[in-house]
Amino acid sequence: MSRPKNDTFLRALLKEPTDYTPLWLMRQAGRYLPEYCETRKRAGNFLNLCKTPSLACEVTLQPLARYDLDAAILFSDILTVPDAMGLGLYFAEGEGPKFERPLREEWAINNLSAPDPYEHLGYVMDAVSEIRRALDNSVPLIGFSGSPYTLACYMIEGQGSSDFRHIKGMMYSRPDLLHKILAVTADAVTSYLNAQIDCGAQAVMIFDTWGGSLSAAAYQEFSLAYMQRIVAGLKKEKDGQRIPSIVFTKNGGLWLEKIAAIGCDAVGLDWTIDIGEARRRVGDQVALQGNIDPNVLFGTPETIAAETRKVLDSYGTGNTGHVFNLGHGISQYTPPENVSVLVDTVHAYSRQLRK
Ligand code: CP3
Repeated sequence: MSRPKNDTFLRALLKEPTDYTPLWLMRQAGRYLPEYCETRKRAGNFLNLCKTPSLACEVTLQPLARYDLDAAILFSDILTVPDAMGLGLYFAEGEGPKFERPLREEWAINNLSAPDPYEHLGYVMDAVSEIRRALDNSVPLIGFSGSPYTLACYMIEGQGSSDFRHIKGMMYSRPDLLHKILAVTADAVTSYLNAQIDCGAQAVMIFDTWGGSLSAAAYQEFSLAYMQRIVAGLKKEKDGQRIPSIVFTKNGGLWLEKIAAIGCDAVGLDWTIDIGEARRRVGDQVALQGNIDPNVLFGTPETIAAETRKVLDSYGTGNTGHVFNLGHGISQYTPPENVSVLVDTVHAYSRQLRK
């Protein structure tokens, strides 16, 4: 298999020269797009959308039809993995994700096992294959998973949380139980990502949304160590092509050097860190992905363009090693036309900077 016609995204991750800075947007398929809302309505609800490969494929392609994006990302959710572990995922309207059976009892933790990705998450594998066929080698497809710690937050809290008192309570009373959950989840994530790679994902990303809520020591022990284990277990090549990995810890800027050292190809940055400073800190070790504040998209076209140029200027000179992205997911209230300003500015201005 050859590389996609537009392989700028893969080249930037692998630090090969590119003509411009590639970009994609976290949550690029989502509620800010009217066509997404239409497909979601047809699906009935969000989970049906995730579990129906033809519809997951349809919404994956929607942002690419509108914008000149350099990568597609599998449409799914990080919480399908704990769902496959038997926790019973559901989305209460307007309340976000919840689990019917949060993981708190020792017996339930001892019974936890890593699901077979083909048997229990076959709909994701089918979506990956179908999306790859539909993309027809135009741009690369990104596969993804949540980090073990971030998944454990939802598994133990049973829903989103503002204080994480159940998982942190376990961390500071029965760390052995938390380690058990994280170890099983890390195995689950490793085989899940490797199955996505086998089905056609050309890069993979680990979303660690909540690792940044930990102390420095706890972050290393309970989040980073397990992401390191996953990265070590990932297939590095498929059909002779390197499969790059991206690790994103929201609020992880303080620990950048440590994240960059776990063996991943790229580190995702949220908007709280200056990307130029991040680049000086990690040197040549990894590529960087990020990192404009998603709320910039609520500004005027002029400020969106100016803020976009600021990120590119801050990253600095050179012709590779940067994948432009938002510092976190795009808001559902984003005016779709503002996204065009961002996309076009990244491409035009980064070309100009290379001259
Ligand atoms: O980037 C993409 O386009 C791929 C799709 C994707 C979704 N979720 C679709 C989605 C990805 C990569 C995710 C990851 C995800 N899911 C994370 C990690 C990244 C992050 O944003 O921090 C987390 C923590 C989740 C769990 C989750 N899923 C939450 C908290 C919610 C509710 C959020 C909300 O705004 O209501 C979801 C639902 C979800 N996942 C939506 C989408 C498009 C909105 C669902 C809808 O259509 O109603």
